[in-house]
Amino acid sequence: MEILGIDIGGSGIKGAIVNITTGQLTSERIRYATPDPSTPKAVAKTVAKLAEHFHWKGLIGCGFPSVIQKGKVLTAANIDKKWVDIRVEALFEEATDCLVKVVNDADAAGLAEATFGAGRGIEGLAILLTVGTGIGSAFIQDGQLVPNSELGHLRFKGGIAEHYASDAARKKYELSWHVWGKRFNEYLNYVNSLFYPDVIILGGGASKKYDKFEDVIDVPTTVTTAKLLNQAGIIGAAMSAKSLVKNHLHN
Ligand code: BGC
Repeated sequence: MEILGIDIGGSGIKGAIVNITTGQLTSERIRYATPDPSTPKAVAKTVAKLAEHFHWKGLIGCGFPSVIQKGKVLTAANIDKKWVDIRVEALFEEATDCLVKVVNDADAAGLAEATFGAGRGIEGLAILLTVGTGIGSAFIQDGQLVPNSELGHLRFKGGIAEHYASDAARKKYELSWHVWGKRFNEYLNYVNSLFYPDVIILGGGASKKYDKFEDVIDVPTTVTTAKLLNQAGIIGAAMSAKSLVKNHLHN
């Protein structure tokens, strides 16, 4: 089954058609810059442009960098504050004239990695952390996603964890990979001491540079990197829209 997967991020809105049975992209991957300011109206227009590019009339799954509950945005840490309380699924459905499912971006990546990537076949708890502008997280227990975990927003070092240990913090404070890696290692140990996952999977921009800080990572659990790289968000977003098929048939 093919679904259009869209990954909405702070700098880019990326999409491709995904075969959700195999986890493969069946089209090219298109990227548009995230509008600035990233208001609901402007982002909805870009999502519609993506769907139009593919002449898409089927289901759409979207990853979005916020807590999403029942189709509504609850938080806006790294996107325009106007998003809070917006019914994002209804907004995108109106813009694209398609049925749309929206989930947290890290949850989408986690779902894809758990099924087709680094978390495949793992028993117990896998925590995926996406390290970019913010820190996103996905909890996958025995292959099942537990959504909206938001581990980037743990209180840590007198502030918010992602302000201390994200890739944006590395850039903002001009930290070397070594110095930032030590910070990130402290954060990983904190996460480990709270949840004792069987494996921590690192995704997002910083994970592609793992060789630059791997030597300072020392956590008493397995730490590995994501396998689907920048496609995980798109694949998982498409997978999450599968639930629309069942709901649609019941209506
Ligand atoms: C947001 C999360 C998101 C993460 C990565 C955080 O600031 O709160 O919802 O998953 O950034 O985009």
